Amino acid sequence: MFVVAGSASQRLSKELAKSLKAKLAKTEIKRFPDDECYVRIDEDLDGEDVFIVQTAWPDRNIVELFLLQDAVREYDVSALTTVVPYFGYARQDKQFKSGEPISARAIARLIQTQTDEFMTVDVHAPSVIDWFEDVSAKNVCAYPEMGKFLRTQGVQMILSPDEGRWDNAKRIADVVGCEADYLVKERLDGETVKMTPKSLDVKGKYVAIVDDIISTGNTIVKAAEQLKKQGAKKIAAACTHAVFANNALERLRRVCDEIYSTDTIENETTAVSVAPQIAKMAKD
Ligand code: R5P
Repeated sequence: MFVVAGSASQRLSKELAKSLKAKLAKTEIKRFPDDECYVRIDEDLDGEDVFIVQTAWPDRNIVELFLLQDAVREYDVSALTTVVPYFGYARQDKQFKSGEPISARAIARLIQTQTDEFMTVDVHAPSVIDWFEDVSAKNVCAYPEMGKFLRTQGVQMILSPDEGRWDNAKRIADVVGCEADYLVKERLDGETVKMTPKSLDVKGKYVAIVDDIISTGNTIVKAAEQLKKQGAKKIAAACTHAVFANNALERLRRVCDEIYSTDTIENETTAVSVAPQIAKMAKD
């Protein structure tokens, strides 16, 4: 069994290879002077079960993923599983206005042409999984690993910034062994959110605000401001997918004491690996 690491998912691929007791394939991945991508797999993959791991964001990593799939397909592999830890474009999962594409469907259709199985992590819209009509597609949950990690940090309360993610927050709180609550958020546009003030039992507590994605950071900043006003002792922001658009991280650091994310998008706040959960799902 081999794991082929895309350049966006090197760290997670190593962890996954360990969890699956698989070999990490030797590869060469580089860019030509015109920025086109070049990949080469320096292994004999004939007859092997192969996992490609590559986050499909930003766009250049999607192209690299397609090239890796094509390279693996040159071998007579036993099975190819494409693991896309963070599935970009998942937030355009329907036509909001006429004339728009269903971007998540467009990406899903391309990925599935070159794989036997597909796995992703904490997909933003579950409907994305349904776009994989020709292959088995699975969504892996990060909450068991995030919950275990936050427990070691002494977190005393979990807060969801909106009702939509309440289920996930509750699951994390169950693993931590603490209480959970949620705020009421209204998204006005891609960059503006409104939080309705709500009384929370946070005075003197270490509270972690948990979300699937942090993009502009506006959701977390608004939530943290409420927690501060209400006397929280310490605030952590924890997410699965650390997109951190523009100066989001800098803005988050002004209002949060700690920022944690998983390795679906590898960055300086990565503290949790989702590899054990991917391996578990792969064995099921
Ligand atoms: C929304 O439904 C998501 O769960 C996140 O809350 C959202 O993507 C965060 O975006 P931002 O960081 O731009 O507020």
